[in-house]
Amino acid sequence: MKVEFYGHVRQYQNIKNEIDARMQEVLLSGQFVQGPMLKRFEGELAKYHGTKYAIGVGNGTDAIWLALMALGIGPGDEVITHPNTFFATAEAIWIAGATAVFVDCCPKTKCIDPARIEAAITPKTKAIIPVHLYGQCADMIAIKEIADKHRLRLVEDNAQAIGAYGQGFKIAELSDAATISFIIQKNLGTFGDGGAIVTNNPEVDARVRKLRNHGSNARNVHSYGFNSRLDDLHAGVLSAKLKHIDAWNDLRRQWAARYTAGLRGCTTFDLPVELPGYRHVYHLFVIETRKPELRDSLLDHLVKSGVDAKTHYSIAIHQQAGYPWGKGARLAGSVPNAEANAARCISLPMFPELTEEEVDYVIARAKEWDKANAESASASRRRAAKPQPVGAS
Ligand SMILES: Cc1ncc(COP(=O)(O)O)c(C=O)c1O
Repeated sequence: MKVEFYGHVRQYQNIKNEIDARMQEVLLSGQFVQGPMLKRFEGELAKYHGTKYAIGVGNGTDAIWLALMALGIGPGDEVITHPNTFFATAEAIWIAGATAVFVDCCPKTKCIDPARIEAAITPKTKAIIPVHLYGQCADMIAIKEIADKHRLRLVEDNAQAIGAYGQGFKIAELSDAATISFIIQKNLGTFGDGGAIVTNNPEVDARVRKLRNHGSNARNVHSYGFNSRLDDLHAGVLSAKLKHIDAWNDLRRQWAARYTAGLRGCTTFDLPVELPGYRHVYHLFVIETRKPELRDSLLDHLVKSGVDAKTHYSIAIHQQAGYPWGKGARLAGSVPNAEANAARCISLPMFPELTEEEVDYVIARAKEWDKANAESASASRRRAAKPQPVGAS
């Protein structure tokens, strides 16, 4: 049996008529850039988040640096995040011209650890970027308290958790802006690249609208800007898909529960933790081998058995070759949890269109590896515990 990592084609086939109709609407309108479909989707996205504004942009990376730029953050400023996120979080800080400051992640959720943030703050600190990693929200209540105390801006990198919420807060409720990626592999993905910013701040809305369009919101009138727009064809695909996002996230949660029940009792790896009161939307279902040196063995076993498992992200940003490429970067203290996450993580296939047979097959393959390795681990423990004759080496 083969279990793929993504279900893009299955998803398209399931709602082909809805997507095709929206795309045809765009094609027949003749308006492909900043046309009526983009406007419509921006309205739908803002409504979905309960925010005043949504602005479609070229991709999720641009969304982060455009938000930072709109907030006036750039050269000379420091922005705090954590190093076990996708590279683009830090990349966007560098594109904005600021210095990336990395603190450790929470050992349970792998999101930024609020307890590590205050020690990293200097007079140059201007913002914090929490990432809702793997589909679960960072602790925005604690982070917001710190941001308010130190008068810092907050930009949520929500590339991975559309439809999630935390205990007592919604995404984009407590921040200056939340950024979204619509690259195909995300929970809400278009057929290519796309991104957006959702915000309640009218200045962020107005500035990003201009910045994304060559500094212009009137023909022939420009200020400094860029070309980073969400095309209407993508907006049409996303408008069709947005209606299904809650049901798709429910399915992800259903598969996560099945993995969790099936793999409970395994002793060689840990399962993801969902915090009480949080809705984790399982963009990724990430397990961690207890011994980092065994991660590649489990990964190989799964891949050789036909399970397309992957790692997110096996090299932390500060451990990438050449880091920091002449850009401003600082590690605020040690980051053992982030490094352990990078060394131990394995993502199991996770998408709404999985089948019970596929999930059960993945569970069976992971369990057989666990059994074999748990036995060898306990045999070596038994050997170590056995009294050795004097002189034995
Ligand atoms: C956490 C995170 N931030 C930012 C991005 C960047 O998004 P994009 O690929 O759309 O530029 C991604 C995904 O690719 C991501 O996972």
